[in-house]
Amino acid sequence: MSSYEITRRPRRLRQHPAMRELVAETRLHPSDLILPLFVADGIDAAREIASMPGQYQHTIDSLKAIGHDALEAGVRCVDLFGVPRPEDKDATGSQAWAEEGILNRAVRAMREEFGNDLLIMADTCLDEFTDHGHCGVVGTDHFGNEVVLNDETLDCYTSMAVAQAEAGAHIVSPSGMMDGQIAAIRAALDAAGWQDVAIMAYSAKYASAFFGPFRDAVGSSLTGDRRTYQQDPANARESLLEAQLDIEEGADFVMVKPALPYLDVLSQVAELSPVPVAAYQVSGEYAMLKAAANNGWLDLDAVMMESLLSIKRAGADQIFTYFAIDAARALHG
Ligand code: PBG
Repeated sequence: MSSYEITRRPRRLRQHPAMRELVAETRLHPSDLILPLFVADGIDAAREIASMPGQYQHTIDSLKAIGHDALEAGVRCVDLFGVPRPEDKDATGSQAWAEEGILNRAVRAMREEFGNDLLIMADTCLDEFTDHGHCGVVGTDHFGNEVVLNDETLDCYTSMAVAQAEAGAHIVSPSGMMDGQIAAIRAALDAAGWQDVAIMAYSAKYASAFFGPFRDAVGSSLTGDRRTYQQDPANARESLLEAQLDIEEGADFVMVKPALPYLDVLSQVAELSPVPVAAYQVSGEYAMLKAAANNGWLDLDAVMMESLLSIKRAGADQIFTYFAIDAARALHG
């Protein structure tokens, strides 16, 4: 028998499932998970999104049905994105705040269906509704160059947030990365009597190629990129500034997005934030795992849970994930 003088034996705590469970530092729970959902105008049956197998553009009826699946699995919040008919898009994205715009109709239907049992969050951004696909109003600068105008866009966001509150949203979620968007929306909601509607701030949102499948999902009209308003993947510091500003401006939650490629940013934001910190496992993260699993190269359930656990370990309190229902069911065993 060999004999070594090993005094510390970390493997002792890894011996069997009961011991491993006893010492687990991070645990996922179904109510950590937020399910993003797409609702499309002018379709009569749910349509699977090619680059996001298992995810759909919903009708309002199929949206309600998936809401029930989510709630039964223990998920307490869904995040709705609207997909208008192409002919309803315009330069300012006016269907975003029209009472009968697809997203506002869906929010109203979901709030009526679920009351306060399932929280209804609405995406508060123009990109799905503008004919140019940008998250804001486009104009020209002093030199004649096309730019996304910050303050003009805020007027649209405030109208949109108030319309979403009127439709019944519990949480509005500005995702357009305009400066001052949280303060503007908080003031508009308060002025309209919606003090109880919360704001999920997309604080650190990167100009990421991992959003690719999402743009298919919403039929995005964007040509070009969002690098003048979303953050440069090279930078971590500005995320701290963005989160700090959003907190000062009244954000109830701050968020980091994407998740897995930005765990360092997530962990830094989590360290400083006095409000809950969410992370968004985006469409491309979902698509990668799905594609590899569909090829037989990865075990889907295992990588799904490992990625979610890692996001939580890095500091996320809530996780937006297209896997929410599957993961919540898996957590019930
Ligand atoms: C913009 C928005 C995007 C996502 C959420 N909100 C796309 C973008 O900024 O281009 C991406 C979500 C995902 O990829 O899952 N309103």
